[in-house]
Amino acid sequence: MGEYTQAQRLQALPPYLFAELDRMKQEQVKKGVDIISLGIGDPDLPTPPHVIQALARAAADPANHQYPSYEGMLAFRRAAADWYRARFGVTLDPATEVLSLIGSKEGIGHFPLAFVDPGDVVLVPDPAYPVYQAGTIFAGGVPYAMPLTRTNGFLPDLNAISGDVLKRARILWLNYPNNPTGAVGPREFLARAVEFARRHRLILAHDAPYSEMAYDGYRPESVMSVPGAKEVAVEFHSLSKTYNMTGWRVGFAVGNPAILTGLGRIKTNMDSGVFQAVQYAGIAALTGPQDCVAESCRVYQERRDVLVKGLREMGFDVEPPKATFYIWVPVPKGFSSTSFTVEILTKAGVVLTPGSGFGAAGEGFVRAAVTVSVDRIREAVERIRKLGIRGQ
Ligand SMILES: Cc1ncc(COP(=O)(O)O)c(C=O)c1O
Repeated sequence: MGEYTQAQRLQALPPYLFAELDRMKQEQVKKGVDIISLGIGDPDLPTPPHVIQALARAAADPANHQYPSYEGMLAFRRAAADWYRARFGVTLDPATEVLSLIGSKEGIGHFPLAFVDPGDVVLVPDPAYPVYQAGTIFAGGVPYAMPLTRTNGFLPDLNAISGDVLKRARILWLNYPNNPTGAVGPREFLARAVEFARRHRLILAHDAPYSEMAYDGYRPESVMSVPGAKEVAVEFHSLSKTYNMTGWRVGFAVGNPAILTGLGRIKTNMDSGVFQAVQYAGIAALTGPQDCVAESCRVYQERRDVLVKGLREMGFDVEPPKATFYIWVPVPKGFSSTSFTVEILTKAGVVLTPGSGFGAAGEGFVRAAVTVSVDRIREAVERIRKLGIRGQ
């Protein structure tokens, strides 16, 4: 960076493990290799037409061209509250218990700035979506990794956290259904987490963007449906995955009003809210027909089944996830997460994500996202099969 030394908060971030893999992927593309990418958690399905039409209508109205309100239009927050009641049976006051976000990543990244002072601890799952850790570091906080292991059903062992750490801890991050493991958070676990947060005076921050991406009749839980959750918890939601709207940047947080007020104060000073036309599109998504959600799940479920079956036939010990579009695959003996990813990229032209990129406890796994057509998944399986690698 020459004389422009980056701030310590940037230097404190863990190295970006995917940079070298991105470079290797580009090399394959340049060589003309037909790459199949199972690497990115971004739906390939389009946003439903009625949502696009709502955007087009609202974008044409000059009333929507000015600065939106910071917390989001009341109509958007009401739509989110109504959706919550219909989906989870949870009652929320749209005025104080719902806050709009410019995509949930924005809220998650900013959240620690509201509640974490330098030296405070934030409890973060490992492996995890990297923003919990990055937001903590930007606020001067210290991330404490809670390992998610297969033997624990990828649920953190809260009792393993020492009293000394808990004394300094402010936030407990959880994420179910989980990226990258595909694990789900049973109600008893969420209830235990609420009780744990209350006992140790923590903010429970539950990140739930995959709550609607579930299979085989499974319906993920909201932490807000646990009695007493509103006293200690907030939950982050996103329209990104549910309605194939990752590019639109719209989500929301719900729960404890005082906690949301803290996040809102940060946002007031950092951003200017969600474009109102996008909020109208969000209202159309949340209040309109929901068959598009069921249809996306049907598509992902078919892809999941093809990939899981193919991997099992090669000897990989994989379970079909009940939710999310991620398959968490143990790497064969003799490989690390990274060396296996490199092998599959360079010899089969298939992009996977090394588990170690999500945290040290992700070592030994790779993540495959079923975000390409079922035919391409079949082809990916075929290419890997031809390498003769056995899962065990
Ligand atoms: C666990 C998790 N949380 C949050 C997000 C952010 O979603 P968005 O900012 O699009 O709402 C993602 C996106 O991949 C995610 O995997």
